Amino acid sequence: MKRESRNAKGARVVGLGSAAPEGVMTNFDLEKMVETSDEWIRARTGIRERRIADEKTATSDLSYLAARKAMEAAGVSARELDGIIVATATPDMLFPATACLLQDRLGARNVAAFDLEAGCSGFIYGMAIGDGMIAAGLGETILVVGADTLSKVTDWDDRGTCVLLADGAGAIVLKPSNGPSGILSTHLASDGSLGPLLCQPAGGSRRPATTETVQEGLHYLKMKGNEVFKYAVRAMEDSTNRALKMAGLESKDVDLLVPHQANYRIIEATAKRVGVPMERVCTNIDRYGNTSAASIPLALDEALKAGRVGEGDIIAMVAFGAGFTWGAAIVRW
Ligand code: ACO
Repeated sequence: MKRESRNAKGARVVGLGSAAPEGVMTNFDLEKMVETSDEWIRARTGIRERRIADEKTATSDLSYLAARKAMEAAGVSARELDGIIVATATPDMLFPATACLLQDRLGARNVAAFDLEAGCSGFIYGMAIGDGMIAAGLGETILVVGADTLSKVTDWDDRGTCVLLADGAGAIVLKPSNGPSGILSTHLASDGSLGPLLCQPAGGSRRPATTETVQEGLHYLKMKGNEVFKYAVRAMEDSTNRALKMAGLESKDVDLLVPHQANYRIIEATAKRVGVPMERVCTNIDRYGNTSAASIPLALDEALKAGRVGEGDIIAMVAFGAGFTWGAAIVRW
């Protein structure tokens, strides 16, 4: 995943957009559903409220809204797209791919479209693959979406997970870089032996959906949160440092760190270990919770709109999620 230097072959981000459902669920709403408190949730996770999709809204609907905004920002029409990658762990259905549903809805033609499943790290994975497609000459204009509706696989009786999970989508348009700005480096990693710590046990080919699997609640997201926590911080630190090194940069060069928004304490610990002060860290977990593959583009879009990102800025993005997967990307804006 290393390119020795910026060259004409790599990609740059030419448009960014995001979308979240209108429905807001506060910690006080959750207090009425499970044995928890606003105080516990805020202290342990940093979350105050999150957006939850209604019954009619699926991952492709949020993907579409985010994609339209990113394409508008980029000044790119659907006809110009060469590839659509949707990173998601909560596709509309197992197949066809959510990327194909999006391709149809956008009206894109003659375009490669596929889903990518890397849990909460999906957006970083998607960006790396999109960058690679452009470098390999497989296309000039690639749409990368990170989108999840985790609420659809949430067990609303499980206080260890339901207070964290939320819905959203973010999208970028990539084009060949013809100057200093672009994706400088990406680092991707995984460790499948840790998969059982964060998984959706049934509904796939190992345990197809049956009345029993539904009755046992095996279609819900299951997580051993405190074990995930420990691993997440170490992995995100390592990945950020590796990606920085590949780009020939150090933590002092980072203008903005955009970490996956899983838990404020994970973000704080990662930033501290990497050596980036919190004033240069992007967080919106207080208002959005954990939106999985959407969290990085959602946070970055907010930072961009708030004027926190300027041309030439070095942005470090890092994520960790189910698989386990993790990864980082260094971008010169
Ligand atoms: N309200 C009140 N008490 C709670 C709640 C809650 N919502 N949830 C758990 N508790 C209790 C536990 O039962 C436990 O009680 P006990 O001591 O009596 O047994 C106590 O709080 C401590 O539980 P821990 O799990 O040790 O709490 P921790 O400080 O680790 O916080 C949390 C839990 C928030 C889940 C944290 O571990 C976390 O954020 N983990 C990482 C999650 C993550 O990053 N996931 C990856 C991304 S998700 C994806 O990829 C789709």
